[in-house]
Amino acid sequence: MRAKYNSAIMSILKVARMGHPMLRAKARALDRRDIRTAAVQKLIDDMIDTMVEYHGVGLAAPQVHEGLRIFVATLDVDEPGETAEPVALINPEITPRGAEMVDGWEGCLSIPDIRGRVPRSRQISVRAFDRNGERIELEAQDYSARVIQHETDHLDGVLFFDRMRSFETLSFLDEYSRYWIKDKDDD
Ligand code: NI
Repeated sequence: MRAKYNSAIMSILKVARMGHPMLRAKARALDRRDIRTAAVQKLIDDMIDTMVEYHGVGLAAPQVHEGLRIFVATLDVDEPGETAEPVALINPEITPRGAEMVDGWEGCLSIPDIRGRVPRSRQISVRAFDRNGERIELEAQDYSARVIQHETDHLDGVLFFDRMRSFETLSFLDEYSRYWIKDKDDD
């Protein structure tokens, strides 16, 4: 378990909320040789700590006021019984695999206590750098693909509202739990 309250190794960052111009700006790609700098490594660690602190499944750098193409996320694990470790993807590029779109519920740490149903590509492939500056390519589907698409959108100033086909499902968390949660697993 991570040591809490040790400011030397951990910082919880302030999360920008909807309306902050940072969330609408296009983030800048990182130079590969900058990825291993102490500043970028610290940012990634702090983003992971911030995501975990606020029970998020993903967090993009613009959400913590850094205009860089980095996000962290907890994706599905391949093997049953494994614990999902947060990963960092840098300069991600998404290619949809096929035309299939699926609706699913999303929330966002920058839009607290709101949920809505958002169509996303079911299957994607992703090219990115990992936090060591290594080139990675991965295939993702369903939940993982949704998280990656949501977070990559943040790097282009796009919020999940922008992707909704209509706002009929837009719900506060309480109402989501009362009226909609039965739909939670139907995507
Ligand atoms: Ni978000």
